[in-house]
Amino acid sequence: MTPPRPLPLAALLVGLTLATAARAEPNRVEFPDDLDALEHYTTVTRRDVTEFMYTSRAALDAIRAGGEIPDGTQIILQDWREGEVYRLFVMQKGDGWGADYAAATRTDDWQFQWFWPDGSVNMDENTARCRACHAAREGRDFMFTYNDARRYE
Ligand code: HEC
Repeated sequence: MTPPRPLPLAALLVGLTLATAARAEPNRVEFPDDLDALEHYTTVTRRDVTEFMYTSRAALDAIRAGGEIPDGTQIILQDWREGEVYRLFVMQKGDGWGADYAAATRTDDWQFQWFWPDGSVNMDENTARCRACHAAREGRDFMFTYNDARRYE
């Protein structure tokens, strides 16, 4: 038997590229620049963090009617700490967007993104983590606050 050879440089580079690809990337989700046009449908408080949730009137109407949330909808979690917006978590739906991901990690046509208040993307986050957790809410349009949205008048 020949002794194991050290990994060739090419293999190391491929490994590095794959590791990088698993990190955050700007995806199709857009930075929400006009929250005033949306409805603030619920608030969740977690210790020092206050989360304001926003979405469109059209999405709320669809949820209440048990219908399909329209393409283009954004749902926003605005994370407040010490009186300032710390970050924005956004989920957005678009026709065929699920195809950007392997079938096993898809959340239908929803994509997720973590934005800083200046509109830049947090490149240290892997948005597959967002999808993995929200996948538990598949029957509720991948939303944890689905019932709050349904009850909002
Ligand atoms: C470990 C589970 C988990 C992960 C990971 C996670 N979320 Fe959530 N998300 C929640 C829960 C639970 C809520 C409901 C609010 C709360 O309890 O704080 C929520 C709420 C939201 C909402 C408001 C709509 C809704 O579903 O209620 C958005 C938008 C959102 N998350 C986006 C994201 C984004 C973007 C990421 C990744 C950067 C992410 N989430 C990662 C669990 C998770």
